[in-house]
Amino acid sequence: MKVISKISQMQAIMKQERMNGRTIGFVPTMGYLHEGHLTLLQRARQENDIVVLSIFVNPTQFGPNEDFDAYPRNFERDEQLAKKAGADYVFYPDVEEMYPRKMSVAVTVTERVNVLCGKQREGHFDGVATVLIKLFHIVTPDRAYFGMKDAQQVAVVDGLVHDYNFPIELVPVETVREKDGLAKSSRNVYLTETEREEAPALYKSLKLAKERIDSGERNPEAILSFMKDYIQTHTSGIIDYIEIYSYPELKEIDTLEGRIIIALAVKFSKARLIDNMTWTV
Ligand code: PAF
Repeated sequence: MKVISKISQMQAIMKQERMNGRTIGFVPTMGYLHEGHLTLLQRARQENDIVVLSIFVNPTQFGPNEDFDAYPRNFERDEQLAKKAGADYVFYPDVEEMYPRKMSVAVTVTERVNVLCGKQREGHFDGVATVLIKLFHIVTPDRAYFGMKDAQQVAVVDGLVHDYNFPIELVPVETVREKDGLAKSSRNVYLTETEREEAPALYKSLKLAKERIDSGERNPEAILSFMKDYIQTHTSGIIDYIEIYSYPELKEIDTLEGRIIIALAVKFSKARLIDNMTWTV
């Protein structure tokens, strides 16, 4: 496994790999790798000749109240994990390499952003789209892998890839869960013992909602009200949002049909957990 920190070197290597007829699978990350990232790498390993992981804590996607400096970093650990998971290249540029001067062309994401977590993170997806445009041009992947835990990010990337004709297959990868259904997250360790016992109720509420819809319920309000009751009865968490949209457009719908997403965020004492389910009704 090679670690590359210069854009020009990365571009030259990728050009050579493509000339040799190799397919490139790409897993973009901000490092501090967890099981979710490793699942993306494993999938990329299965489906491509070459696997590229990028590690770059992207300053442009942090809001004024979000601490870029405090974001956890541990490159040595990440390097070991990436090697074990079978990555061929780790692209690890610094901020100066990626953003050497003020950008002269700005990217604004106008759709799929003012809902779910995006509502509270103004400009966040502009930064995500900006860095992904750069990374896609540098790595030139055939396939790019993203976790469905952040389904809104996947929807935004889907818009980006289609609107700007990137010849890249976007591969959404299912959320990795604990045995009891709780979506794996580095934040789960902040739950108290009682909250940890309650937390699987979030996924359970999504599953029960799906059962109701698959049995014929078509009214989004009825589902939202059922889920609110369920979460309030089974957990001590405070519901931040539960929302239902078409997916990946993230538009409001009056009737539950076509591909939909139900997504939720619930605040516990020291952790805010998110989860979602998407499927075609
Ligand atoms: O999901 C992330 O870690 C980041 O948003 C991404 C896609 C690597 C862009 O910086």
